[in-house]
Amino acid sequence: MEPVNMQAATTVAEDNPYLQGKFAPVSNEITAENLEVRGELPADLSGIFLRNSPNPKHAPKGRYHWFDGDGMIHAVHIRDGKATYRNRYVRTRGFEREEAAGEAVYTGIMERPDFTQPGGPFKNTGNTDLHYHAGKLLALWWLGGKAHRLRLPDLETLGEWDFCGQLSRGIASHPKTDPRTGEMMFFDFSVLPPFMTYGVANAAGEITHQTPIELPGARLQHDIAITENYTLLFDMPMFWDPELLVQGKTKVVFDRSMPARIGVIGRHAPGDTIRWFDTGAFYMYHTINAWEEGDEIVLVGCRIDDPVPASRENPKRIPRLNFLQLDPYLTRWRLNLKTGLVKEEQLDDVPSEFPRTNDSLLGIRQRFSYNPRIARAPQLLFDGLIKYDTENGDSSTWAYGEKRWGGEASFAPAIGGSAEDDGYLITFLYDEGRNQSELLVMDARDLAAGPVATIIIPQRVPIGYHTQWVSEAELAAQVV
Ligand SMILES: [Fe+2]
Repeated sequence: MEPVNMQAATTVAEDNPYLQGKFAPVSNEITAENLEVRGELPADLSGIFLRNSPNPKHAPKGRYHWFDGDGMIHAVHIRDGKATYRNRYVRTRGFEREEAAGEAVYTGIMERPDFTQPGGPFKNTGNTDLHYHAGKLLALWWLGGKAHRLRLPDLETLGEWDFCGQLSRGIASHPKTDPRTGEMMFFDFSVLPPFMTYGVANAAGEITHQTPIELPGARLQHDIAITENYTLLFDMPMFWDPELLVQGKTKVVFDRSMPARIGVIGRHAPGDTIRWFDTGAFYMYHTINAWEEGDEIVLVGCRIDDPVPASRENPKRIPRLNFLQLDPYLTRWRLNLKTGLVKEEQLDDVPSEFPRTNDSLLGIRQRFSYNPRIARAPQLLFDGLIKYDTENGDSSTWAYGEKRWGGEASFAPAIGGSAEDDGYLITFLYDEGRNQSELLVMDARDLAAGPVATIIIPQRVPIGYHTQWVSEAELAAQVV
């Protein structure tokens, strides 16, 4: 085992909550084996839990936004009742460039974009999402661009990945893989036309379809959804202010006077066949699932009525994503393909985000969603995990306790399991009072019973973003 250092951060923290305390980056890349386990790791659980997160290596150049930090992967490999922890940077071109310079070279999204930077004004950090497809683990960035390939289990960055040159432009976070066909659907967005592109990669990882999606203007979109035959794309009225953008400035605007539109496109269809369903303005970071039911497409996700609400800290509703106070609620839409009408129904009044499901049911009718519960705090923190029955909004919750903050919980199917919730919910948790990070393993069949096993992590794992479970069987099929 390599030496363990509980020191939090080398990056200088300005007056920014996302560089301090539980959010502060860690600088040590460690491997720690035979971790202490409280409780018992289930015999039918074997694989690697991975989480991506922003973790700036150098003191920021200018104002820092939580979305800016270099990608860092934290992973726990569970096998034969034992656990190993590793954390590694996503070594992107921008990261290596700043390593060579010994300081930050790129500014973040709170600063005026520097178009003299090679490859665009912002550093592709690969810090947002992780997706395992066609035997390759991809780290993805919320602003799109090329993916980065990572090797398991050592988390070495294998470089940028453009699908052997097939990728026409970029791939944003949150591609969706159909577990029945192995196809991966993805999208990309840009301030330059086409403002959105949509694509499909087959089970072998080859891109078989790419098409532009016409939008009235540039948009900031974050996720998609799939059904057996369709892909759902979004046109929600959040974007960089176009007048300021031409002056080289970035300011995020949410225009409540515009509709939000949900686009339905055949999986392999050209972009100009997309059918748009108009609804009132809303924003959604993350979908949960979608499926076909008769003439309807059902979509479930975490709807935000106003992503830029007035608050005491922000009375003029100036978009200050630094504070990220969100009010997303579990919501179901029904899009009627015959009538063109949309029915929208909020299913609960408890704010939650970073939802996950049993991915083996992606694109078909599903019942359960596992949503981190948003704490009433100035920053985006999760103080519990909710298991939702999305048919009726019923729920059960495991609350983490005072000053204990969890994150997105991946669903790891139990080996040999058959029911939708035969599996485990896995999340990192930071106990702020004890300055201790843990990995919780909870039984999805009985979330309210609390963790069946708690793995003690020998360094602080900062609050982060998205997670991925890679089973031992998937790991064995890795293509390196
Ligand atoms: Fe996301």
